[in-house]
Amino acid sequence: MEPAVQIDRLTKEFTRRDGTLVKAIDDADLVVEPGEFVVLLGPSGCGKTTLLRTIAGLETPDRGQIRVSGKTVFSSDERVLVTPSQRNLSMMFQSYALWPHMTVRNNVRYPLENRRAGKMSRSQMQEKVEDSLATVGISDLIDQYPGQLSGGQQQRTALARALVDGSRVVLFDEPLSNVDAQVREQLRIELLATQRRLGFTAIFVTHDQAEAMELATRIAVLDQGKVQQFGTPEEIYRSPATEYVATFIGSTNRMAGAWDSSAGVFRTSHGPIRVGDGRPTPKQANLLWRPEDGGLSQEDPGTTNAISGTVQAMLFMGSHTEYIVQCGEDRMRIWSSRPTSLSVDDHVWITLDPECVMVFEDSSDSRPSDEAGSTESAAGRSAEVVS
Ligand SMILES: Nc1ncnc2c1ncn2[C@@H]1O[C@H](COP(=O)(O)OP(=O)(O)OP(=O)(O)O)[C@@H](O)[C@H]1O
Ligand SMILES: [Mg+2]
Repeated sequence: MEPAVQIDRLTKEFTRRDGTLVKAIDDADLVVEPGEFVVLLGPSGCGKTTLLRTIAGLETPDRGQIRVSGKTVFSSDERVLVTPSQRNLSMMFQSYALWPHMTVRNNVRYPLENRRAGKMSRSQMQEKVEDSLATVGISDLIDQYPGQLSGGQQQRTALARALVDGSRVVLFDEPLSNVDAQVREQLRIELLATQRRLGFTAIFVTHDQAEAMELATRIAVLDQGKVQQFGTPEEIYRSPATEYVATFIGSTNRMAGAWDSSAGVFRTSHGPIRVGDGRPTPKQANLLWRPEDGGLSQEDPGTTNAISGTVQAMLFMGSHTEYIVQCGEDRMRIWSSRPTSLSVDDHVWITLDPECVMVFEDSSDSRPSDEAGSTESAAGRSAEVVS
């Protein structure tokens, strides 16, 4: 089967009003299979909306190619540019963009009335609208106005409208960002269930990493218009391709290491650290590990991969407790789901399984910041700023 959406070497530049050039999309490749739920994830300004808009045809790229269900809709080489209405896909926006003065029926019928090709009779439209509302389970709301609907019902109306004309690909630009956390969780589950049941292909933009992990069959992590990694949530979390991806998704602890080939360990200020077989061994590296991968022990295990420190704080988080441990200059975070008898100021050893240590070459530009120790995820931070 042809991919639902295929993007090859796509580039889109904007010129800012002061004349500077911004590469909103920078040589991006992406292949989305039919029925997939792909999430585009990245910080504000990384090009998520622009990528979605170029797929929809609302923005014209400078170079590259876009194919939808095997049909070329944009190609700079072949000089092809297909209009948005002929791409057989639809887009669902942040606010759902429902017309407040129109009933659910008329909102959902809107794309059919504004079709360029193949005019439909009133009864054909009526049938399609009813089918689409039945599909998303809100047939009984057909004569309501958007103001009379709950958040979930509005979302379903917008989805019915996106699906009414037979689109097999639906593009979502942060559709859940206007609702509070609890409703958002509910809408997310509902959206995923509907997508699985109907089998359409979803490309969904968010900067919320938890949302991305929950929804995606695969996540594309974007940074400055480039696709840094495209993989399943587990691949992205467990085997990040770059340090940027590792720190953007989830929390990490970091320490600097220098490879000692004769001993087969990284030398760090916390002692020798062994890493899993097959990991890269650059001369200068940043060694990253996740808070849930560190063990805590009050006795010196007397092996490599044991970092000594002092407990500074213990934060009870419900499902786990976060221990903040000062290790020399670095502050490390460890999550433990089992109760311990530790208290503040206790001396502890953090033990690290070599398989859980991620190794990235220390090239200074790939480092998000100079501070060592633990980093809060960038996704979490930007979510706070935006909401
Ligand atoms: N019409 C435009 N003219 C000039 N620059 C633009 C235009 N549209 C987008 N940009 C720039 O392109 C870059 C990518 O923007 P885009 O809207 O795709 O980001 P985003 O990842 O969707 O961000 P956010 O999470 O904040 O919505 C930004 O630097 C933005 O300033
Ligand atoms: Mg955006």
